[in-house]
Amino acid sequence: MNFKVPRGTQDILPDASWKWQRVEKIARSICDVYNYKEIRTPIFEQTELFQRTVGDTTDIVQKEMYTFTDRGDRSMTLRPEGTAPVVRSFVENKMFGYADQPVKLYYTGPMFRYERQQAGRYRQFVQFGVEAIGSDDPAIDAEVIELAMTIYKRSGLSDIKLVLNSLGDKESRNAHREALIAHFSPHIGEFCSDCQHRLEKNPLRILDCKVDRDNPLMNTAPSLADFLNEESSAYFEKVKNYLDIAGIEYEYDPNLVRGLDYYNHTAFEIMSTSKGFGAITTLCGGGRYNGLAEEIGGPAAPGIGFALSIERLLLALDAEGKAWTDEPSLDVYLVTLGEEARAKGFEILGKLREHGLRSEMDYMDRKIKAQMKSADRLHANYVIVIGEDEVNENSVQLKNMADGQQKKVSIDELIDVLTK
Ligand code: HAM
Repeated sequence: MNFKVPRGTQDILPDASWKWQRVEKIARSICDVYNYKEIRTPIFEQTELFQRTVGDTTDIVQKEMYTFTDRGDRSMTLRPEGTAPVVRSFVENKMFGYADQPVKLYYTGPMFRYERQQAGRYRQFVQFGVEAIGSDDPAIDAEVIELAMTIYKRSGLSDIKLVLNSLGDKESRNAHREALIAHFSPHIGEFCSDCQHRLEKNPLRILDCKVDRDNPLMNTAPSLADFLNEESSAYFEKVKNYLDIAGIEYEYDPNLVRGLDYYNHTAFEIMSTSKGFGAITTLCGGGRYNGLAEEIGGPAAPGIGFALSIERLLLALDAEGKAWTDEPSLDVYLVTLGEEARAKGFEILGKLREHGLRSEMDYMDRKIKAQMKSADRLHANYVIVIGEDEVNENSVQLKNMADGQQKKVSIDELIDVLTK
């Protein structure tokens, strides 16, 4: 029988996993500097959590969730995103009672959506996300956006742009909703059955329908921008002002609506502008979600956050021709000749590792030439050669691979020489 990795998923092989670790390291260290703390939530949650927050009429809930009934007859869903679980945990663990508000959290891990596989679109993908919950200060919106941009810049990307919109508050959205219904109603027969269903329940979702994307009514639909009330506009102005202070450029896009229902006010995406990037250019999406905590039974706790896909960040680096090639090299490769030397080498290897030196030796009983080739492939900074003479003299030959210099070093001094 021939087993294959499930469609839409991928194995991250050892020649690539170091890149994933590096992205995570960069993102974690930036979160640390911005005082965000890690939260880890389960990979599955009650299905209803996502229905209520992401929204019944969204593509994610209607078509993309991995939902199953567990042995206790409960409906469970592999998380399609991280915000609802984090806010669920915030409410459940009464984080609204923490002395320091907002509560600033980050997370990373696999998310699951049953989507059509495409370059940059997977059924299991890894998000790195942050959520700042408990404040509606527009400065925190700018902080969250700045944090996301910093992750990309620190990773080496430069062909990116920030796209920004305001979805307004409830009142603004209701006014817009009525206008959308009036706009689409007379022609709703031309739209797909999902859109017909969305018309009354959530007409905003019609705007991000993938089936009816090219219908001319999409372009003439009333824009949310025309329905923002004074308060929402004022809030948006302040967010933009803070972005200006932070020196972050943005492009205003009144059609940016995001594919999840919990958003209001600030909505943003970060896209790759690299020519080499495929059809899907969104690297990161986020926004404000005041009211989400209440929706799931908690107190008012306005929040904002984003999530980015690590897959797409690495693809964007490739597209810009900036793929990382500097895999961390080995500190020492031990070449041993003969059984006694092997035993001595094994002992030294333990000591090197105890001192944190990344080291390796041959376990395939190969000739010296083959061992030297391994040392080369692993980009070892030093090669230690141990033969019969060295065993007898309690010494090694130490070769500096950068300058080719080789010298005899006594085993007792070896660690000192290497760690200096
Ligand atoms: P989202 O826009 O659904 O938002 O996803 C965020 C990011 O996850 C996308 O911009 C994209 O990079 C990545 N992504 C989504 N689906 C896939 C896929 N099938 N394959 C690869 N990458 C994908 C959210 O998930 C929100 N929870 C973000 C957020 C956090 N909003 C506030 N806080």
